[in-house]
Amino acid sequence: MKNKKKIIISNRLPIQIERKKDKLIIKPSAGGLATGLNSAFDSTEICWVGWPGIVPKDNSEKEKIIALLKPMNLLPVFLSKEEIHNFYEGYSNEVLWPICHYQPSYIHFDQEYWSTYVAVNKKFCDAALSIQDAPDFIWVQDYQLMLLPQLLRQENQELNIGYFHHIPFPSEELFMNLPQRKELIEGLLGADLVGFHTFADSQNFLNACKKVLHVPCGHNQLKYSDRHIFVESFPMGIDYDKFVHTSSLPEVNAIATQFRSHFPDQKIIISVDRLDYSKGILERLRAFLTFLEKYPEWHSKVVLYMLIVPSRDKVSQYKKLKDEINRKVSEINSIYGNLSWTPVLYFYKSLPFEELIGLYIASDICMITSTRDGMNLVSKEYIACKTNSDGVLILSEFAGASKELVDALIINPYNRTETADSIYHAIRMPPEEIRERTEANRQIIQKFNVHHWVRLFLDRMAETKAIQRDEWAR
Ligand code: G6P
Repeated sequence: MKNKKKIIISNRLPIQIERKKDKLIIKPSAGGLATGLNSAFDSTEICWVGWPGIVPKDNSEKEKIIALLKPMNLLPVFLSKEEIHNFYEGYSNEVLWPICHYQPSYIHFDQEYWSTYVAVNKKFCDAALSIQDAPDFIWVQDYQLMLLPQLLRQENQELNIGYFHHIPFPSEELFMNLPQRKELIEGLLGADLVGFHTFADSQNFLNACKKVLHVPCGHNQLKYSDRHIFVESFPMGIDYDKFVHTSSLPEVNAIATQFRSHFPDQKIIISVDRLDYSKGILERLRAFLTFLEKYPEWHSKVVLYMLIVPSRDKVSQYKKLKDEINRKVSEINSIYGNLSWTPVLYFYKSLPFEELIGLYIASDICMITSTRDGMNLVSKEYIACKTNSDGVLILSEFAGASKELVDALIINPYNRTETADSIYHAIRMPPEEIRERTEANRQIIQKFNVHHWVRLFLDRMAETKAIQRDEWAR
């Protein structure tokens, strides 16, 4: 790990290790953060610290994993089963995730959750500090590690630390409910730069700082513990060229053609999400049901193809949601389906990258119905792959992406009729309008891609450090 001067820390590494018949296999991680960010870096320039997604059987397997990851400059932080339960499933995904996604009734507190969250954040801190040589910067990612900026700062005042929050930050009214609100805010203020996907999220965070710490805040900064901390928005992009390139490959187009051939006379609506209540999957199904009720002339002529990637299946709200989705899908199919038409096709799995792109290419409409979403990169991937500009994007106003992709059909997913009507509108949209909307959105996605996002954030980190140094010198 010597001579690595740039450090990224996230809960998950961009890869996960799986054990198959005593063999260790490396697979890509699921989720927007890992896939998005991984595209932006050449593994030779950074060291990435994070959880490898497996509990080693014993020390010898641990050593094997360390050795396997070392050539890729990945430094694993191992978590025990108990830590996974209390830190990952517990405080991260039963407390922070629901509050940040405006679902306070889904919060489940347990005494052990918080103490483990603190301990695991320390564990990540120790791992980062074990890397030799002072780093150029340390960039901490996401809500699982909100205490880490402060822990690192306590060890070294000089460090250049950035933090990016990939999920929404709730309004201060809601955030104030958290018993650990002060610790979390102070944790983040160990950074020099705190970033969010949207301006609204950055303002929610500054309002929470004002309320919790009683400090004056500007629109993009505050002073705390004698340091200026900058709080700004940086909407994350995708690796545009990679998606465009993959959609031009003959084998990927063959996948798309084959998929399309199963639905010769039908419009294909797709959705791609992790199984999560924040994605509005039930709201989407209800709207589709309303569409079928309201527009019977479209029976047998439309299918909703939902790809749902398994996620956090040990957390009770996720288990419950899975059952509810199953019930709703079978309700719709039994009301409207017949021997030659199944209105909703639902797959609970992840697809290889090329097949996912084939799905994007083959479909007519992509539906994003998040009830809250930091950004939603699927919306950007879909448009990038529509190189013929022949796809309509229906996009929730509660996804960060809706602030950029203003030429999508923007909907409120809680409004069933409006969402059902947006399907009707999308299906009948003239090709010229589809082309114009897609091209307008595409320009944004192409320009504000993930490389641009990383550059902007890192340049701003360097600037904020320089401002602080000037202040100390004065
Ligand atoms: C979101 C979060 C990420 C997380 C990902 C997958 O994108 O912002 O931090 O890694 O979901 O969730 P998981 O719980 O599987 O890591």
